[in-house]
Amino acid sequence: MITNTELEKKGNLYPSKVIGFKKDVDKLYFSTDNDVILQVTVVRDSVLRFRYTTTGNFKKDFSYAITKYAGTGYNKLEIKEEATFYTFTTAKLICNINKADLKVSIYDAKDNTLINKDELGFHWEESYEYGGNIVKMSKTSHDGESYYGLGDKPEHLNMKGKRFENWVTDSYAYGKSTDPLYKDIPFYTGLHHSKAYGIFFDNTFRSFFDFANERRNVTSFWAQGGEMNYYFIYGPKVEDVVVNYTDLTGKPHQMPPLWALGYHQCKWSYYPESKVKEITSKFRELKIPCDAIYLDIDYMEGFRCFTWSKEHFPDPKRMVKELADDGFKTVVIIDPGIKVDKDDPVYQEGLEKDYFCKRADGPPMKGKVWPGECYFPDYTKPEVREWWASLFKELIEDIGVKGVWNDMNEPAVMDVPNKTFPDDVRHDYDGNPCSHRKAHNVYGMQMARATYHGVKKFAYPKRPFVITRAAYSGTQRYTSSWTGDNVATWEHLWIANVQAQRMAMSGFSFIGSDIGGFAEQPNAELYARWIQLGVFHPFCRTHSSGDHGDQEPWAFDIDVTDIVRKFIELRYKLLPYLYTAFWNHIQDGTPLLKSLVMYDQEDVHTHYRTDEFMFGNKILVCPIIEPNAKGRRMYIPRGNWYNYWTNEVVKGGKEIWVDADIDSMPLFVKEGAIIPKYPVQQYVGEKEINEITLDIYYKKGKENSQLFDDDHDGYDYTKGRYSLRTFKLVGKEKGLIIQQHKAGKFITNYKTFKLKLHGLPFKISKIQVDNEEILFEKVKVNGDNTLIIDKDFTQLHIISA
Ligand code: GLC
Repeated sequence: MITNTELEKKGNLYPSKVIGFKKDVDKLYFSTDNDVILQVTVVRDSVLRFRYTTTGNFKKDFSYAITKYAGTGYNKLEIKEEATFYTFTTAKLICNINKADLKVSIYDAKDNTLINKDELGFHWEESYEYGGNIVKMSKTSHDGESYYGLGDKPEHLNMKGKRFENWVTDSYAYGKSTDPLYKDIPFYTGLHHSKAYGIFFDNTFRSFFDFANERRNVTSFWAQGGEMNYYFIYGPKVEDVVVNYTDLTGKPHQMPPLWALGYHQCKWSYYPESKVKEITSKFRELKIPCDAIYLDIDYMEGFRCFTWSKEHFPDPKRMVKELADDGFKTVVIIDPGIKVDKDDPVYQEGLEKDYFCKRADGPPMKGKVWPGECYFPDYTKPEVREWWASLFKELIEDIGVKGVWNDMNEPAVMDVPNKTFPDDVRHDYDGNPCSHRKAHNVYGMQMARATYHGVKKFAYPKRPFVITRAAYSGTQRYTSSWTGDNVATWEHLWIANVQAQRMAMSGFSFIGSDIGGFAEQPNAELYARWIQLGVFHPFCRTHSSGDHGDQEPWAFDIDVTDIVRKFIELRYKLLPYLYTAFWNHIQDGTPLLKSLVMYDQEDVHTHYRTDEFMFGNKILVCPIIEPNAKGRRMYIPRGNWYNYWTNEVVKGGKEIWVDADIDSMPLFVKEGAIIPKYPVQQYVGEKEINEITLDIYYKKGKENSQLFDDDHDGYDYTKGRYSLRTFKLVGKEKGLIIQQHKAGKFITNYKTFKLKLHGLPFKISKIQVDNEEILFEKVKVNGDNTLIIDKDFTQLHIISA
């Protein structure tokens, strides 16, 4: 008899009733009579992890996203069994698990408001094609609920009403709404009734998020394999959600060297050496600050990784040194594809040691990239990562390259419809062997991680600098990133703005776009407007494909060169402010950019704003993103703000028109802020900085500001050799008091502060430094409200006439 072996298609499957409950330290297990188990881990009072199996037992737990440094521990855990549900309470949350269907509802423990609730909850479909399950989760979406995050999606910041896919993809010349792009960050923040929570779906398979798109009151997410495994993170502040997510998936492992926060110049490609020198000399000649120069693929010999073109770069070590003497750090590109070439030592070693990815049936994975046919290291294997890291010795230690740029690591494969590896390719996945379906989204991350370890090792005692195009959650621990191959259009300027904010909201702050656009060519006006935005992105680099002409700051006309210089100079003046914000970022996970909704979630007007954002804690930025503008309307958040250019004070909570001709842009400073500034330098370290300017924006009331400083490179700061100054400003009608609190053992190079008082409502009669009266005439410089005092004051009192 012939048996029909066709499997039965069962459609969606659901947990049945709960028949068992068990507690094991911080883990609670709820089992159903159809073999589903829900494991809840109480990570912290405000962070719960939900993990489901449909087979009665859990596979080995492993994640590339979660850092070993993530904080754990809670203050309270009480569990009760009621007639129809189990309930457990932490110091922040109450969570109910329904006995009939395993559905979860989560409440704020303080006031019992519902934060998040399962709609269908966990369900799954068996995957007939691949085995395992397609795992699904659906949640109720509340009226007025908003959604933010999800990495690099080039869409409105608020994702309500939209559906997205996560599958790391090389997306040359993408557009608004192209999905997916280069990154997979399956984390979003939901906000309703002023309370924010986050969901991080730590599953690396191709995944989807639907924010009330398919059904108006439902938000769902699902993945084509693996486990339903998500973290619920409670705020209730949007910023706290992001901070907690960043704690789970990691902050950058160290401060960037300060030069990495300077301006970078890139093109595909600057070669030969004489061209590189021509570009760097021009920066110095025109006095446009610049710290880094990039070499794209043409520096190599036939695009072979870890080689140099003998013709174009005959003596890289000498060149890199000469560039360094002129203040330029050299950054070079390294892609994952290793050219199939039996004479190439990297290829030989990779093959010999079995380091390349293989197809399911055994042969190496072969694909076409820039060098032609290539093999690809399996960076998901620890041994391969170590080998890869070791390959950077010559570049970094011997030649003196300061940074490495990882590209095409989605991984991108040319001339194939799916643009990447086929699904059957095998990966080690750190001892959890799997197919490319599971490893695809982390491939670029693991390459960047291996590169980071190599650069870090050989750059020691200096800090590493790495940049990657592909990323999964957690990649921010190792590298910076850019938003890939954008286009020189006004729409892309809008996209660059939302992408940088969205990335910062997704725990990845060290981000920027190809300024001016990668594909096609910007006109002078677009380039100027893009630089104006770009100097307020943590990573600030001009890059272009080079097919369409030049894109250096002087490539347009003189007026624009002057504008570009003015804004790059502003970036250099603000370096201590940005460096301080970066310190807060690596300490606390505070994002470097804040969308207005993160700045003031109580104000519903912020929930749908996209253009305005906070650069650090004190500076409000709004780019001009349309041609021929003389200014624009923008929303000023609540509070009082100083127009950076005019010092005029505006009251927020409303939309206003702001003048901004081509040489300006809308910029505001929060009242009460103290903004530290450097003098303009052509590159970091050009000048010995003996004095820091503090721009003090008077406020009637209190405001705190900070200033961080250290050696600007190296690791001494990790041993306490840093200087962190906290300024407490208290403004009154007839006086202004600034108290300074100092921490850290670093003796700063600067000795004095030049205080510039903005908006002081009175005439100064006298000042007291640490209770000692000083004649204002003695310390004052250039006009009325500027004075110079010793950096180590504890209390400064400025007294009205
Ligand atoms: C990719 C990168 C781009 C680079 C080019 C050549 O398109 O995204 O930045 O210039 O490859 O390496």
